[in-house]
Amino acid sequence: MCGIVGILGQGPVAGAIVEALKRLEYRGYDSAGIATLEDGHLARRRAAGKLKNLEGCLAAEPLFGACGIGHTRWATHGKPTQANAHPHANGKVAVVHNGIIENFRELRDELRGKGHVFESDTDTEVIAHLFAEAMEGGLAPVDAVAASLPRLKGAFALAVLFDGEDDLLIGARDGAPLVVGFGAGERQNELYVGSDALALAPFTDELAYLDDGDFVILSRAKGAEFRDLHNQPVERRRVKTLASALLVDKGNYRHFMAKEIHEQPEVVARTLGRYLDMSAGTVALPFTLPVDAAQLPRLTIAACGTAYFAGLVARYWFERFARLPVEIEVASEFRYREPPMERGGLTLLISQSGETADTLACLRYAKAQGQKVLSVVNVASSTMARESDVAALTLAGPEIGVASTKAFTCQLAVLACLALAFGRARGAIDAKEEAQYVAELMAVPGLMAEAMKREVRIEALARDFAHVRDVLYLGRGTSYPLALEGALKLKEISYIHAEGYAAGELKHGPIALVDNDMPVIVLAPHDNVFDKTLSNMQEVAARGGRLILITDAAASHDFGGEVETITMPEMAPHFSAVVYAVPVQMIAYHTAIFMGKDADQPRNLAKSVTVE
Ligand code: F6R
Repeated sequence: MCGIVGILGQGPVAGAIVEALKRLEYRGYDSAGIATLEDGHLARRRAAGKLKNLEGCLAAEPLFGACGIGHTRWATHGKPTQANAHPHANGKVAVVHNGIIENFRELRDELRGKGHVFESDTDTEVIAHLFAEAMEGGLAPVDAVAASLPRLKGAFALAVLFDGEDDLLIGARDGAPLVVGFGAGERQNELYVGSDALALAPFTDELAYLDDGDFVILSRAKGAEFRDLHNQPVERRRVKTLASALLVDKGNYRHFMAKEIHEQPEVVARTLGRYLDMSAGTVALPFTLPVDAAQLPRLTIAACGTAYFAGLVARYWFERFARLPVEIEVASEFRYREPPMERGGLTLLISQSGETADTLACLRYAKAQGQKVLSVVNVASSTMARESDVAALTLAGPEIGVASTKAFTCQLAVLACLALAFGRARGAIDAKEEAQYVAELMAVPGLMAEAMKREVRIEALARDFAHVRDVLYLGRGTSYPLALEGALKLKEISYIHAEGYAAGELKHGPIALVDNDMPVIVLAPHDNVFDKTLSNMQEVAARGGRLILITDAAASHDFGGEVETITMPEMAPHFSAVVYAVPVQMIAYHTAIFMGKDADQPRNLAKSVTVE
């Protein structure tokens, strides 16, 4: 996950920027760079590898400017070379960026057509050229940014410097975090931007977080001016951050769970960046598979709780993209069932903590059976990561909320990439299909950021849910495991009884529960089973049930009653489970909050279940 730091200071800032970047090293990176204004003109130093290489460049060719931006880059589009390191600049503008610009190819083609010359493989460089193009058209820097930001699709945080503008630094956020810091005491007139509070800790504890869609104009003379996505001035609350709280910083959120829900566009993008070559539009696993995927007769998956539901979603993907039969079971059953397993086969385990006792027991059982073990884990130093033949890491960062959110969607991101890699290896999909699916996956972080914008609507719904006794979740295809996950999320943090069902199972039993008190939440992206799900909704409507539909198609269908609809962004259906996880998580979170429950630490639950 890339790190961003920017300083409008009073003396040379390069050293302070590098120090702040060191505090972001934990996010992982493979190149770094810095830009300052030297006598009013943009100057850059960039280096592949660790920050000490950048320090070496700065020692050889120091920078003295009093305003600057710095970046640690986790390669997504293009290799971790000096040419691809940020800041990207074009004489007028220098920009550092965290996230993915999905439409960079279209923008690059358009800008090339207007004579812009590109030097890197990155998506980021189009941002610098887009701003410069607007300025060449006569706009002042702030107006150029305001006019250009709506053209960027995806999830991003940015910091921008302009040639000849010694008192201007602009930050922007849509789907990746950015915080503004306010200097005090001897740093009185200084202003900062950073990826998180930790980066800014040595300078200030007074912060304001940008909301998605915001940009901020920093000037020593005028202070910080925040504008929203309509370019209207907005207030963003200043908060004091305790130094002790910085390592596990809640940002602007009341709970870790809320923060972790909102972090998803960023961490999913980061995770995808690890498993895809986004420039080439291909899957690029960072390891060699421990088996010959082409010869594999079947895949066995075991996991617990939310991680198990991620496995259930993945089963659809492995079967569809790789034509690979999948056997999946909850780990606590699998380990005692002691199923026969063929030597040299593959077992896939999924776990956030990498320490879950039942899943670990499956790992050891599978190994004893002569299976190879591939685990999808979030904690790199965990027992499961260490004992597996290959650990496929999710890059969700520490998940503090007990109810899993961002680890789940990052698991899905890795599993989708694995399914595509298996598909290619088995000849089940060709290069063209791979490119199409990879493009769909690359759109996911931006769609998740868009889905976050339904939060006010979901909050209103949740206010109502706080009074219900039972909730039913329905879905088909990959929305079925997501229905199970929705029900689990709601019950574990709000203590409302909830059930998830395959929509087709409704009439085989649960329809007996339907009355006008029990909400029935239907997850129905516009996919190949959409019409089937609509028929199931009809069955609920006919019995006076209360329907809540989460869909991307305008529900123009007449159900003979009112259907509360949460309309999601339009998307290709294959990876909708990752995007639809957002409203599902938000419903649970806001319901729990309205009920006065502790969303971060629900009763009786532990984050890492190291006992059976
Ligand atoms: C639910 C939840 C749990 C975990 C389960 C497995 O929100 O967090 O169901 O998913 O305990 O934990 P890990 O993934 O650490 O193996």
